[in-house]
Amino acid sequence: MTIDPRLSDSSSAEPVTEDGVFLADVWDGLAAKPKVLSAKYFYDAAGSALFEQITALPEYYPTRTELRILDERGPDIAALLPKGAALVEFGSGSTAKLRRLLRHLPDLSAYIPVDVSGAFLTEQAETLRADLPDLTVEPVVADFTRPFTLPDSVRDRPLAGFFPGSTIGNFEPGEAARLLDVFGRILGPGATLVIGVDLVKDRAVLEAAYDDAAGVTAAFNLNLLRRIQRDLEADIDVESFRHRAFFNAEASRIEMHLVSRRAQTLRVAGRGFAFEEGESIHTENSYKYTLDGFRALAARAGWSPLEAWTDSDGLFSVHALRRDG
Ligand code: AVJ
Repeated sequence: MTIDPRLSDSSSAEPVTEDGVFLADVWDGLAAKPKVLSAKYFYDAAGSALFEQITALPEYYPTRTELRILDERGPDIAALLPKGAALVEFGSGSTAKLRRLLRHLPDLSAYIPVDVSGAFLTEQAETLRADLPDLTVEPVVADFTRPFTLPDSVRDRPLAGFFPGSTIGNFEPGEAARLLDVFGRILGPGATLVIGVDLVKDRAVLEAAYDDAAGVTAAFNLNLLRRIQRDLEADIDVESFRHRAFFNAEASRIEMHLVSRRAQTLRVAGRGFAFEEGESIHTENSYKYTLDGFRALAARAGWSPLEAWTDSDGLFSVHALRRDG
């Protein structure tokens, strides 16, 4: 089985077709106090390629650790899924992870990748169908943070959801609970959800994962300014900002920021935004959970814990949950 390197784990690549929405978000974010930009805008073509590089960094443990857990625990996961189940992947970015899981799920009847990018989905579906001719692949173009309808052909099958990569960590805990509830409404009572969740750990290990020695994460963060410059007629000296990542222990999250090295005014499509020296734009949160902390969050959203697996170093977790009702 070959893995198309362009598709493996390129995360939720979301081309912003409406530059108007992007501009409005950038204007709002830079006018806010403190300044903020949404992490969802990291993933243009350059950003997706940089994220791909991040997943291979020695310091960035999540991707390889999750892959190992899926490999080792595949049979246990398979045992929790009913025969003939259809698997819905929310934000179908990580073909590599899906393929690891599929090896262990010969009884799966259908795979439904859900993504906002139709072009990406079509390409991914074609590759999968070619490699696995017996699997029904039915992509759905949708924003998975909002309720959507599953294809008629799979609605009567037992359903399971897959949400790897600790993407859930990008959401504020309240939003994360709301998202899990949306998944539950889509999948229905009795459904199984397999979800990857990064764990709280030593600050040094966490901070190195988001501030690697090779500077790839810095380039990934700074690429957001390049994207604004390119797509929104902005006048930005990218070199005048630096990457900063730290663990906010009270909030249990990694925060990424872009810090202005000097006092300056950024111009974006005719509007000016003043920065003091050292002032930052908050670009990402990546929440880290304990096993029990995540179980409690899931319970609030109507999901009961079935099992949770971790690696021997306790770096990362994969939870299996069952929808109540
Ligand atoms: C794709 C959101 C899981 O939070 O670890 C990696 C994104 N940001 N390095 C993460 C990311 C900086 C990643 N997620």
